[in-house]
Amino acid sequence: MTTIRPAIASDAKAIHALVNEHAKKQLLLDRPLEEIVEEIDDFLVAEKDGKVIGCCQLDVYNTKLAELRSLAVKDEHKGMGAGKALVEEALSHAKDKGVTEVMAITSEDEFFKKLGFGYATPTQRRALFAKP
Ligand SMILES: CC(C)(COP(=O)(O)OP(=O)(O)OC[C@H]1O[C@@H](n2cnc3c(N)ncnc32)[C@H](O)[C@@H]1OP(=O)(O)O)[C@@H](O)C(=O)NCCC(=O)NCCS
Repeated sequence: MTTIRPAIASDAKAIHALVNEHAKKQLLLDRPLEEIVEEIDDFLVAEKDGKVIGCCQLDVYNTKLAELRSLAVKDEHKGMGAGKALVEEALSHAKDKGVTEVMAITSEDEFFKKLGFGYATPTQRRALFAKP
């Protein structure tokens, strides 16, 4: 059975490996181990048979906005509900913290759309990006 739980310090290396394995395939931004250690309290992990098989971070900017970052599931465990469970738990944490919008920067649009994410806020505000 897969369980979702808050990450603890000893999960940092497994999270780092998982995120950077996906970063090599350009699916996620790479994250230095020190940064993951520093921000470990924001991470959730999916655990199966005592092993970390998935992770994500809820980076809370303020009560209006949080970003769901570094969502990844190990290849051999993809398609079994861990990604969905991680996102649902992160959204539940965001709600508990009083956050009104959660965004994800991703190429996995269809996955996020299934989980209730859309391209605009209910008041039709959109995210635009520029290189500084
Ligand atoms: C995206 C990702 C986290 C999905 O995790 P997963 O555990 O395989 O997904 P789940 O099994 O929980 O899937 C939940 C639902 O989404 C669907 N789904 C999963 N990946 C999908 C995709 N790429 N496109 C469309 N639907 C997808 C599943 O079929 C399932 O649908 P259902 O509820 O109707 O059965 C995983 O593929 C991954 O690690 N991707 C690489 C990293 C990444 O792109 N992260 C997002 C950026 S933050």
